[in-house]
Amino acid sequence: MKLVVQGGTPLKGRVRISGAKNSSLVLIAASAISSGEVILDNVPRIADVKTQLEIVRVLGGQVVWEGRNTLRLKWPERLNREIPYSLAKKIRASNLFLGALAAKRGQVKIPLPGGCNIGSRPMDLHLKGLSMLGFDVSLEHGFIEAVPKKVEGCTIYLDFPSVGATENIMMAAAGASGTTVIENAAKEPEIVDLANFLNAMGAKVRGAGTDLIRIDGTQEFHGTRFSVIPDRIEAGTYMIAAGVSGGEVTVENVIVKHLQPVIAKLQDVGLEVEVNEDKVTVRRVGELTATDIKTLPYPGFPTDLQSPMMVLLALAKGTSVIVENVFENRFQVADELKRMGAKIQVKGHTAVIEGVEYLSGAQVKASDLRAGASLLLAGFAARGETEISVAELITRGYEAVVGKFSAMGAKIKALADEGDGLGICAGLSGHEEDRDDDQTGCASS
Ligand code: EPZ
Repeated sequence: MKLVVQGGTPLKGRVRISGAKNSSLVLIAASAISSGEVILDNVPRIADVKTQLEIVRVLGGQVVWEGRNTLRLKWPERLNREIPYSLAKKIRASNLFLGALAAKRGQVKIPLPGGCNIGSRPMDLHLKGLSMLGFDVSLEHGFIEAVPKKVEGCTIYLDFPSVGATENIMMAAAGASGTTVIENAAKEPEIVDLANFLNAMGAKVRGAGTDLIRIDGTQEFHGTRFSVIPDRIEAGTYMIAAGVSGGEVTVENVIVKHLQPVIAKLQDVGLEVEVNEDKVTVRRVGELTATDIKTLPYPGFPTDLQSPMMVLLALAKGTSVIVENVFENRFQVADELKRMGAKIQVKGHTAVIEGVEYLSGAQVKASDLRAGASLLLAGFAARGETEISVAELITRGYEAVVGKFSAMGAKIKALADEGDGLGICAGLSGHEEDRDDDQTGCASS
């Protein structure tokens, strides 16, 4: 699918932020631990959630959408224990079923999810945690197999505060006997959301949000109803779009604390930011000035907003430096931005950006979810028309993205590309409830 954007229109208006992709994906997996029905509210209708639900069904879970953003999940006593590679390769978060199924003390076999172009994304920390908990972990023919031996709580130190490894170990430990302590744990808001969800099902998790998490294992997990936190990365993307397009955007239904790193950086660049309970307004009042960014685990600046910030800094007067400390290869969007006139020098983990007066529309290609979103932002600022191919990558993580931006004045058209899947464009407009019929919802190219 392609998105065609006419540049030069400052975005003006309000946008309601959806539930967090990176919380929804782990909570859907964690629901497998429950013996009762689980209802999840505020789940975004995005492609990655759709894929995660396909895995739920393959494992034997039943799941239905209720209304626009509520999921009703029910798992049988005996689950299938293997995820096919054809599904796992579509989504890294398939690896989160490892910890969820391990919590049920059963054997687990999942394909090693491939790397993607932001990095090799190994799973050594996940596997270290499971083997320390008493699983026999093997890696053969591209599959990880974890067979429970004596599953007992222990103290696990993470060399890096990996989000996924922390989540998998939390879930596996929730079903182990005894107490597990995770040291140097990830502190992201999505970790806290998972801990609250596990506790709502009967687990005993303490310390989430700090680097030391304590889990007292149990085998009693009941059903619950739980609402997913708002998506801080989606919110940050729309806030940065206000600066890039020279307009004024209010993001609603956010948790301001989760946005502190972004708010601070937007103020450094010279944007006006107004906070009001669960709303944040960002407006461009004058020139953008260069600043430096270092991505870090939470509460540092989030790596998922590094590419969108690159677009803003490409238009900021002076020289900015971005250091990407979380992934080893997350500057892919720089080459596409250079085709639009940006001045960016990438060397290893560092990108040096020389601000330019304007970007010009061009034909560009999305390489990953956040790079795709960044090209959309660049298209809003550019002179002329920008055509973004492989734009379906954007629907992986941004609910109703065309509908939300168009409502703020953006001029965007979704065009089918050869080989598009069904319903791929409908997901952009926010009317995907009726998406399952055979129209793609795209304008003909
Ligand atoms: C989660 O990925 C998010 N995905 C990512 O969001 C996010 O960028 C990332 O956390 C960092 O915040 C989901 O939650 C589904 P990590 P995850 O394990 O868990 C290395 C997006 O755009 N590492 O914290 O895979 C790894 O290579 C996506 O929404 C190991 O070395 O991230 C990376 O360099 C992209 N060994 C670093 O840690 C391991 O065993 C951070 O990875 C695990 C990770």
